[in-house]
Amino acid sequence: MGLPLSSFAPERTETAKEIHRLVRRLAAHGLLEWCLGGARDRQPDVIIEPQIPDYWPRVTPLRASDVLVLSRFAYLRRRGNDLVLESPRAGALFRFRNRKLANAVALLAAPRRMRELRRQDDFPSSELCGLLLDCQILFKIEPERMDALRAAEGDSNLVLWDFHDLLFHARSMEGRHANPQGGLYSHAGLIPPLPAVRPRWPGKKVDLRKLAAAQSRPISLKLLRDRHSTRIFDDERPIAIGELARVLDATARVQSKWSSNDTGVVVEYAARSYPSGGASYPLELYLGVSKCEGLARGFYHYDAGTHSLVPISVSPQQLEALLRGAQFAMGAPGPPQVLITIAARFGRVAWKYSAIAYALILKDAGVLMQTLYLAATEMGLGGCAIGTANIDLFAKMTRIEIHIEGPVGQFALGRAGKPHAG
Ligand SMILES: Cc1cc2nc3c(=O)[nH]c(=O)nc-3n(C[C@H](O)[C@H](O)[C@H](O)COP(=O)(O)O)c2cc1C
Repeated sequence: MGLPLSSFAPERTETAKEIHRLVRRLAAHGLLEWCLGGARDRQPDVIIEPQIPDYWPRVTPLRASDVLVLSRFAYLRRRGNDLVLESPRAGALFRFRNRKLANAVALLAAPRRMRELRRQDDFPSSELCGLLLDCQILFKIEPERMDALRAAEGDSNLVLWDFHDLLFHARSMEGRHANPQGGLYSHAGLIPPLPAVRPRWPGKKVDLRKLAAAQSRPISLKLLRDRHSTRIFDDERPIAIGELARVLDATARVQSKWSSNDTGVVVEYAARSYPSGGASYPLELYLGVSKCEGLARGFYHYDAGTHSLVPISVSPQQLEALLRGAQFAMGAPGPPQVLITIAARFGRVAWKYSAIAYALILKDAGVLMQTLYLAATEMGLGGCAIGTANIDLFAKMTRIEIHIEGPVGQFALGRAGKPHAG
């Protein structure tokens, strides 16, 4: 059974207030769907599915002179038997029951004035346009900028994103979509798993085993063998600030700086100990510190240029949510002593590289993860890479929008503890 949105406010009776509180609480957990159009006894025209926990539908008011156009990040696709309109920028997706409305929205592939839209037979309604505008699936454009749609949408950081890159980022990290995610074994029972080692190609093989064993192994190669993931930490003897400083010095500190003239523009570079596509070095380290001897619990940015930690003010609940998220991802009995969030300044790479920017950033993140593993192993510490992170939580903690800078992975660090029996 549904309730009209208008019935929630103003709250006149105790019952109405109670319902309002309940609905707000359900909405805060993304547990509500919102229906648009369709009389009481008919199917709704559109169903709005929240994608972020605190989505609440807002209808942006529109004037007849406003010019609207679809965002270049919006896309319409089949999901099961449904037609859905979504965008990595949107707090909700729109499921179309009335296909004519979807066609009408598609007309906004080119800028249209509201006055002109309202005259159309299958006008999508001001309410739907206002809701789509609020979700950034549509945007308003100044008439003089109609020839430069990409530049007219959002800030310069958004201009740098390619469509598939932003979609990949928002859809493969946590916090900005409502889909199941992670090790769900969705295909088990339907498709057999691929073998751990690829079946051999036919032909006569060249055996390398004796050759590898013939020489003694250099220490750095031994490090590769010794490296492993640690998910349980010894909280009686937490990592000390000196050890943390050495790990950061070895893995992430800026080692040298230079600038070069790239296509007539002077670009600064700052090299670190790991390789980076185009020497871009877009990755930043943010530390969620739970237990570290000599360093207060809190959230810090590692300033790689000056080799220092700068505290960032966050709420205790946010820090707890960050650490618990990592604990859950590792299936660990407790939070990591230090949780390194690997964040990217996306525009640093996308300014130069088209179509491959996000892929390069993920490759950089993998290289940095291995560098952190090796440093931890060398120092007798423990670590574990974590593939996901909550980009919405990070945005709230740093107050930086998700398309400007955000997490692409995490690394748990600390002094290894003994695995629990059983
Ligand atoms: C990109 C990446 C993501 C990972 N994500 C997780 C994770 O979310 N949770 C976890 O417990 N381990 C994670 N790991 C660690 C792997 O599970 C681990 O490397 C693998 O099981 C091999 O074990 P070893 O590292 O001890 O050799 C990740 C590793 C990588 C490289």
